[in-house]
Amino acid sequence: MPQDQKKKMTLEEFQETETPGLLAIYDFTSNIAISNYFDTTAVKIPEACYSSSLLAKNHFLSETYLLNRKRNSMDMGLSYGVMGYSSFSVRGSIVQRKLAEKEELEHEDLTVRLPRYRNVKMSLGTAIRARRSIRKMSDASMTIEDLSTILYYADGVTGELTLASQEKDLLPVNTLGDNFNATLRAAPSGGGLFPITLYMVLRNVKGVKDGVYYYLPLEHSIRLVKALDNSLAEEINTVAEWGINIEQEKINIIIFYVYSLYSNSRKYLDMAYDFAMVEVGQISENIQLTCTAEGIASCDIGGFEKYKCENFIGIDGITRHIVNVTIIGK
Ligand SMILES: Cc1cc2nc3c(=O)[nH]c(=O)nc-3n(C[C@H](O)[C@H](O)[C@H](O)COP(=O)(O)O)c2cc1C
Repeated sequence: MPQDQKKKMTLEEFQETETPGLLAIYDFTSNIAISNYFDTTAVKIPEACYSSSLLAKNHFLSETYLLNRKRNSMDMGLSYGVMGYSSFSVRGSIVQRKLAEKEELEHEDLTVRLPRYRNVKMSLGTAIRARRSIRKMSDASMTIEDLSTILYYADGVTGELTLASQEKDLLPVNTLGDNFNATLRAAPSGGGLFPITLYMVLRNVKGVKDGVYYYLPLEHSIRLVKALDNSLAEEINTVAEWGINIEQEKINIIIFYVYSLYSNSRKYLDMAYDFAMVEVGQISENIQLTCTAEGIASCDIGGFEKYKCENFIGIDGITRHIVNVTIIGK
Protein backbone atom coordinates (compact mmCIF):
# COMPACT_ATOMS: atom_id res chain seq x y z
CA MET A 1 0.00 0.00 0.00
CA PRO A 2 1.47 3.42 -0.89
CA GLN A 3 2.70 5.44 2.05
CA ASP A 4 0.04 8.17 1.72
CA GLN A 5 -2.82 5.67 1.87
CA LYS A 6 -1.71 4.25 5.19
CA LYS A 7 -4.44 4.36 7.80
CA LYS A 8 -3.67 5.63 11.27
CA MET A 9 -5.16 3.48 13.99
CA THR A 10 -4.89 3.12 17.70
CA LEU A 11 -3.22 0.13 19.26
CA GLU A 12 -6.64 -1.12 20.41
CA GLU A 13 -8.04 -0.83 16.90
CA PHE A 14 -5.01 -2.59 15.48
CA GLN A 15 -5.29 -5.42 17.94
CA GLU A 16 -8.99 -5.83 17.31
CA THR A 17 -9.03 -5.64 13.53
CA GLU A 18 -5.57 -6.65 12.33
CA THR A 19 -4.03 -9.03 14.84
CA PRO A 20 -6.32 -12.04 14.16
CA GLY A 21 -5.48 -11.90 10.45
CA LEU A 22 -1.78 -11.58 11.14
CA LEU A 23 -1.87 -14.54 13.49
CA ALA A 24 -3.57 -16.60 10.80
CA ILE A 25 -0.78 -15.68 8.38
CA TYR A 26 1.83 -16.61 10.95
CA ASP A 27 0.09 -19.89 11.47
CA PHE A 28 0.23 -20.59 7.76
CA THR A 29 3.81 -19.53 7.33
CA SER A 30 5.06 -21.31 10.43
CA ASN A 31 8.86 -21.21 10.59
CA ILE A 32 9.11 -24.87 11.41
CA ALA A 33 10.84 -26.98 8.79
CA ILE A 34 7.75 -28.63 7.40
CA SER A 35 6.45 -25.34 6.00
CA ASN A 36 7.37 -24.32 2.45
CA TYR A 37 7.98 -20.89 3.88
CA PHE A 38 10.47 -22.11 6.48
CA ASP A 39 13.41 -19.99 5.38
CA THR A 40 11.40 -16.97 4.37
CA THR A 41 9.56 -16.09 7.55
CA ALA A 42 10.55 -15.16 11.05
CA VAL A 43 9.83 -12.28 13.34
CA LYS A 44 8.71 -9.50 11.01
CA ILE A 45 7.20 -6.10 11.27
CA PRO A 46 3.45 -6.32 10.57
CA GLU A 47 3.77 -4.98 7.01
CA ALA A 48 6.38 -7.58 6.22
CA CYS A 49 4.04 -10.24 7.56
CA TYR A 50 1.50 -9.36 4.92
CA SER A 51 3.98 -9.30 2.08
CA SER A 52 5.85 -12.42 3.12
CA SER A 53 2.69 -14.47 2.95
CA LEU A 54 2.42 -13.59 -0.74
CA LEU A 55 5.99 -13.57 -2.01
CA ALA A 56 9.48 -13.63 -0.54
CA LYS A 57 12.45 -15.85 -0.86
CA ASN A 58 14.52 -13.37 1.06
CA HIS A 59 15.42 -12.36 4.57
CA PHE A 60 15.75 -8.87 5.89
CA LEU A 61 19.19 -7.86 7.02
CA SER A 62 17.69 -5.68 9.76
CA GLU A 63 15.64 -8.59 11.02
CA THR A 64 18.66 -10.85 11.11
CA TYR A 65 20.55 -8.14 12.96
CA LEU A 66 17.81 -7.84 15.55
CA LEU A 67 17.74 -11.57 16.09
CA ASN A 68 21.44 -11.52 16.78
CA ARG A 69 21.31 -8.69 19.32
CA LYS A 70 19.73 -8.39 22.72
CA ARG A 71 17.02 -5.76 22.25
CA ASN A 72 13.68 -4.77 23.69
CA SER A 73 11.10 -7.37 22.63
CA MET A 74 8.92 -4.57 21.25
CA ASP A 75 11.55 -4.00 18.55
CA MET A 76 10.96 -7.45 17.19
CA GLY A 77 7.59 -6.73 15.60
CA LEU A 78 4.70 -9.08 16.06
CA SER A 79 5.74 -12.29 17.69
CA TYR A 80 4.05 -15.60 17.46
CA GLY A 81 4.79 -16.03 21.14
CA VAL A 82 4.66 -18.90 23.52
CA MET A 83 0.87 -19.41 23.38
CA GLY A 84 0.88 -19.43 19.58
CA TYR A 85 3.12 -22.45 19.69
CA SER A 86 0.30 -24.58 21.06
CA SER A 87 -1.80 -24.05 17.90
CA PHE A 88 -2.57 -27.08 15.78
CA SER A 89 -0.49 -26.01 12.80
CA VAL A 90 2.65 -25.58 14.89
CA ARG A 91 2.13 -28.84 16.77
CA GLY A 92 1.44 -30.55 13.45
CA SER A 93 4.67 -29.19 12.00
CA ILE A 94 6.70 -30.42 14.96
CA VAL A 95 5.16 -33.89 14.73
CA GLN A 96 5.90 -34.03 11.00
CA ARG A 97 9.55 -33.13 11.42
CA LYS A 98 10.44 -36.78 10.92
CA LEU A 99 9.44 -36.42 7.26
CA ALA A 100 12.25 -33.96 6.60
CA GLU A 101 14.88 -36.45 7.81
CA LYS A 102 13.21 -39.36 6.04
CA GLU A 103 13.46 -37.38 2.84
CA GLU A 104 17.21 -36.94 3.38
CA LEU A 105 17.58 -40.71 3.71
CA GLU A 106 16.25 -41.16 0.21
CA HIS A 107 19.73 -40.05 -0.93
CA GLU A 108 21.21 -43.42 -0.06
CA ASP A 109 24.61 -42.51 -1.48
CA LEU A 110 24.87 -39.49 0.82
CA THR A 111 23.60 -40.90 4.10
CA VAL A 112 25.00 -43.43 6.54
CA ARG A 113 22.72 -45.14 9.04
CA LEU A 114 24.67 -45.46 12.26
CA PRO A 115 24.73 -48.72 14.20
CA ARG A 116 23.19 -48.89 17.67
CA TYR A 117 25.07 -46.96 20.34
CA ARG A 118 26.99 -48.76 23.09
CA ASN A 119 25.65 -48.60 26.61
CA VAL A 120 27.91 -46.23 28.55
CA LYS A 121 28.80 -48.04 31.74
CA MET A 122 30.88 -45.58 33.79
CA SER A 123 28.88 -44.09 36.65
CA LEU A 124 27.79 -40.49 36.16
CA GLY A 125 29.65 -39.39 39.28
CA THR A 126 32.89 -40.93 38.08
CA ALA A 127 32.49 -39.44 34.60
CA ILE A 128 31.90 -35.94 35.99
CA ARG A 129 34.91 -36.20 38.30
CA ALA A 130 37.15 -37.67 35.61
CA ARG A 131 36.23 -35.29 32.76
CA ARG A 132 39.14 -33.13 31.55
CA SER A 133 39.73 -31.27 28.32
CA ILE A 134 42.18 -33.59 26.57
CA ARG A 135 44.09 -32.13 23.65
CA LYS A 136 46.55 -34.99 23.07
CA MET A 137 45.29 -37.60 20.63
CA SER A 138 46.92 -40.79 19.34
CA ASP A 139 46.24 -40.88 15.59
CA ALA A 140 44.41 -44.22 16.00
CA SER A 141 41.28 -44.76 13.95
CA MET A 142 37.85 -44.58 15.51
CA THR A 143 35.08 -47.15 15.02
CA ILE A 144 31.66 -46.31 13.68
CA GLU A 145 30.27 -47.54 17.03
CA ASP A 146 32.37 -44.87 18.78
CA LEU A 147 30.86 -42.24 16.49
CA SER A 148 27.34 -43.62 16.99
CA THR A 149 27.73 -43.64 20.78
CA ILE A 150 29.05 -40.06 20.92
CA LEU A 151 26.29 -38.66 18.67
CA TYR A 152 23.52 -40.63 20.36
CA TYR A 153 24.41 -39.45 23.86
CA ALA A 154 25.06 -35.94 22.53
CA ASP A 155 21.61 -35.33 21.09
CA GLY A 156 20.02 -38.62 19.99
CA VAL A 157 16.33 -39.45 20.38
CA THR A 158 15.54 -40.78 23.83
CA GLY A 159 11.76 -40.37 24.09
CA GLU A 160 8.47 -39.07 22.76
CA LEU A 161 5.92 -36.52 23.86
CA THR A 162 2.30 -36.51 22.75
CA LEU A 163 1.20 -33.21 21.28
CA ALA A 164 -2.47 -34.16 21.00
CA SER A 165 -4.33 -31.69 23.15
CA GLN A 166 -6.01 -32.73 26.37
CA GLU A 167 -9.41 -32.32 24.68
CA LYS A 168 -8.30 -34.95 22.15
CA ASP A 169 -9.04 -32.57 19.28
CA LEU A 170 -10.21 -34.28 16.14
CA LEU A 171 -7.96 -32.34 13.77
CA PRO A 172 -4.71 -34.15 14.62
CA VAL A 173 -6.37 -37.54 14.76
CA ASN A 174 -8.12 -37.03 11.43
CA THR A 175 -5.15 -35.62 9.58
CA LEU A 176 -2.06 -37.04 11.23
CA GLY A 177 -3.33 -40.17 12.94
CA ASP A 178 -3.21 -41.27 16.55
CA ASN A 179 0.57 -41.14 16.78
CA PHE A 180 0.66 -37.39 17.30
CA ASN A 181 4.06 -37.36 18.98
CA ALA A 182 7.11 -35.15 18.98
CA THR A 183 10.54 -36.67 19.60
CA LEU A 184 12.62 -35.84 22.65
CA ARG A 185 16.39 -36.00 22.80
CA ALA A 186 19.33 -36.59 25.12
CA ALA A 187 19.79 -32.83 25.60
CA PRO A 188 16.90 -30.55 26.58
CA SER A 189 15.72 -27.75 24.28
CA GLY A 190 13.52 -24.70 24.86
CA GLY A 191 10.02 -25.61 23.62
CA GLY A 192 11.38 -28.81 22.05
CA LEU A 193 12.39 -26.78 18.98
CA PHE A 194 15.99 -28.04 18.81
CA PRO A 195 17.69 -25.17 16.98
CA ILE A 196 21.19 -26.72 17.11
CA THR A 197 22.44 -29.01 14.33
CA LEU A 198 25.65 -30.98 14.79
CA TYR A 199 27.89 -30.59 11.75
CA MET A 200 31.13 -32.51 11.82
CA VAL A 201 34.32 -33.27 10.01
CA LEU A 202 35.06 -37.01 10.19
CA ARG A 203 38.51 -38.41 9.54
CA ASN A 204 39.84 -41.86 10.06
CA VAL A 205 36.54 -43.31 11.24
CA LYS A 206 36.35 -46.94 10.05
CA GLY A 207 33.52 -47.58 7.60
CA VAL A 208 32.84 -43.89 6.92
CA LYS A 209 34.57 -41.95 4.17
CA ASP A 210 36.36 -38.80 5.34
CA GLY A 211 34.19 -35.74 4.91
CA VAL A 212 31.93 -33.04 6.26
CA TYR A 213 28.59 -34.39 7.56
CA TYR A 214 25.65 -33.39 9.73
CA TYR A 215 23.74 -35.52 12.20
CA LEU A 216 20.12 -36.56 11.60
CA PRO A 217 19.06 -37.42 15.16
CA LEU A 218 15.54 -38.64 14.36
CA GLU A 219 16.99 -41.29 12.04
CA HIS A 220 20.28 -41.71 13.94
CA SER A 221 22.12 -41.20 10.66
CA ILE A 222 24.68 -38.84 9.20
CA ARG A 223 24.35 -36.92 5.95
CA LEU A 224 27.36 -36.14 3.77
CA VAL A 225 27.88 -32.48 2.83
CA LYS A 226 31.16 -33.01 1.00
CA ALA A 227 33.86 -35.65 0.91
CA LEU A 228 37.37 -34.74 2.04
CA ASP A 229 39.56 -35.34 -0.96
CA ASN A 230 43.22 -34.33 -0.80
CA SER A 231 42.66 -30.64 -1.46
CA LEU A 232 39.87 -30.42 1.11
CA ALA A 233 42.04 -32.26 3.60
CA GLU A 234 44.60 -29.49 3.02
CA GLU A 235 41.89 -26.87 3.44
CA ILE A 236 40.81 -28.19 6.82
CA ASN A 237 44.40 -27.82 7.96
CA THR A 238 44.19 -24.09 7.31
CA VAL A 239 40.66 -23.76 8.70
CA ALA A 240 41.42 -25.68 11.85
CA GLU A 241 43.92 -23.49 13.62
CA TRP A 242 43.16 -24.74 17.09
CA GLY A 243 46.42 -23.74 18.76
CA ILE A 244 49.98 -24.99 18.96
CA ASN A 245 49.23 -27.61 21.61
CA ILE A 246 46.78 -29.48 19.34
CA GLU A 247 47.96 -31.80 16.57
CA GLN A 248 45.09 -31.22 14.29
CA GLU A 249 45.74 -34.11 11.89
CA LYS A 250 45.15 -36.58 14.75
CA ILE A 251 41.58 -35.43 15.43
CA ASN A 252 38.91 -37.94 14.35
CA ILE A 253 35.81 -35.76 14.82
CA ILE A 254 35.46 -31.98 14.78
CA ILE A 255 31.97 -31.05 15.94
CA PHE A 256 30.61 -27.69 14.74
CA TYR A 257 27.50 -26.59 16.66
CA VAL A 258 25.33 -24.73 14.14
CA TYR A 259 22.55 -22.49 15.44
CA SER A 260 19.63 -21.91 13.03
CA LEU A 261 18.22 -18.71 14.41
CA TYR A 262 14.90 -19.01 12.58
CA SER A 263 14.17 -22.28 14.40
CA ASN A 264 13.33 -20.80 17.77
CA SER A 265 13.23 -17.00 17.38
CA ARG A 266 9.56 -16.78 16.44
CA LYS A 267 8.70 -18.18 19.81
CA TYR A 268 11.44 -16.79 22.01
CA LEU A 269 12.33 -13.50 20.31
CA ASP A 270 15.40 -11.91 21.83
CA MET A 271 15.82 -14.80 24.27
CA ALA A 272 16.20 -17.27 21.40
CA TYR A 273 19.94 -16.85 21.04
CA ASP A 274 20.45 -17.12 24.80
CA PHE A 275 18.49 -20.37 24.84
CA ALA A 276 20.58 -21.71 21.97
CA MET A 277 23.77 -21.01 23.95
CA VAL A 278 22.41 -22.95 26.93
CA GLU A 279 21.53 -25.85 24.64
CA VAL A 280 24.96 -25.94 23.02
CA GLY A 281 26.53 -26.19 26.48
CA GLN A 282 24.26 -29.09 27.36
CA ILE A 283 25.04 -31.01 24.18
CA SER A 284 28.76 -30.31 24.54
CA GLU A 285 28.79 -31.57 28.12
CA ASN A 286 26.96 -34.74 27.03
CA ILE A 287 29.68 -35.29 24.44
CA GLN A 288 32.53 -34.71 26.87
CA LEU A 289 31.10 -36.96 29.57
CA THR A 290 30.45 -39.72 27.03
CA CYS A 291 34.01 -39.41 25.73
CA THR A 292 35.37 -39.56 29.28
CA ALA A 293 33.39 -42.73 29.96
CA GLU A 294 34.56 -44.32 26.70
CA GLY A 295 38.24 -43.40 27.07
CA ILE A 296 38.16 -40.92 24.17
CA ALA A 297 39.79 -37.46 24.23
CA SER A 298 37.68 -34.34 23.73
CA CYS A 299 38.09 -30.58 24.16
CA ASP A 300 35.87 -27.57 23.46
CA ILE A 301 37.51 -24.97 21.22
CA GLY A 302 36.50 -21.33 21.42
CA GLY A 303 39.46 -20.21 19.34
CA PHE A 304 38.09 -21.16 15.95
CA GLU A 305 38.03 -19.00 12.82
CA LYS A 306 34.26 -18.56 12.56
CA TYR A 307 34.04 -17.24 9.01
CA LYS A 308 36.50 -19.79 7.59
CA CYS A 309 34.82 -22.71 9.34
CA GLU A 310 31.34 -21.63 8.18
CA ASN A 311 32.59 -21.36 4.64
CA PHE A 312 34.22 -24.77 4.91
CA ILE A 313 31.08 -26.58 6.09
CA GLY A 314 28.88 -24.67 3.63
CA ILE A 315 26.55 -22.52 5.76
CA ASP A 316 25.81 -18.81 5.32
CA GLY A 317 27.15 -17.68 8.71
CA ILE A 318 24.20 -15.31 9.22
CA THR A 319 20.94 -17.17 9.56
CA ARG A 320 22.86 -20.32 10.47
CA HIS A 321 26.14 -19.93 12.20
CA ILE A 322 28.71 -21.82 14.24
CA VAL A 323 28.61 -21.07 17.95
CA ASN A 324 31.02 -23.66 19.36
CA VAL A 325 33.47 -26.39 18.36
CA THR A 326 34.50 -29.64 20.08
CA ILE A 327 37.43 -31.75 18.91
CA ILE A 328 37.38 -35.50 19.59
CA GLY A 329 40.01 -38.19 19.04
CA LYS A 330 41.27 -41.57 20.20
C1 LIG B 1 33.61 -22.46 25.45
C2 LIG B 1 34.98 -23.06 25.67
C3 LIG B 1 36.02 -22.72 24.82
C4 LIG B 1 37.28 -23.30 24.96
N1 LIG B 1 38.24 -23.00 24.06
C5 LIG B 1 39.44 -23.65 24.12
C6 LIG B 1 40.44 -23.43 23.12
O1 LIG B 1 40.23 -22.64 22.18
N2 LIG B 1 41.60 -24.10 23.20
C7 LIG B 1 41.84 -25.00 24.21
O2 LIG B 1 42.92 -25.58 24.22
N3 LIG B 1 40.93 -25.22 25.20
C8 LIG B 1 39.74 -24.58 25.17
N4 LIG B 1 38.76 -24.82 26.12
C9 LIG B 1 39.03 -25.78 27.22
C10 LIG B 1 39.35 -25.02 28.50
O3 LIG B 1 40.66 -24.49 28.43
C11 LIG B 1 39.19 -25.95 29.68
O4 LIG B 1 37.85 -26.36 29.79
C12 LIG B 1 39.62 -25.29 30.99
O5 LIG B 1 40.99 -25.03 30.99
C13 LIG B 1 39.25 -26.16 32.19
O6 LIG B 1 39.91 -27.42 32.08
P1 LIG B 1 39.11 -28.81 32.03
O7 LIG B 1 38.10 -28.72 30.92
O8 LIG B 1 40.12 -29.86 31.76
O9 LIG B 1 38.43 -29.01 33.35
C14 LIG B 1 37.51 -24.23 26.01
C15 LIG B 1 36.47 -24.55 26.88
C16 LIG B 1 35.21 -23.98 26.71
C17 LIG B 1 34.09 -24.37 27.64
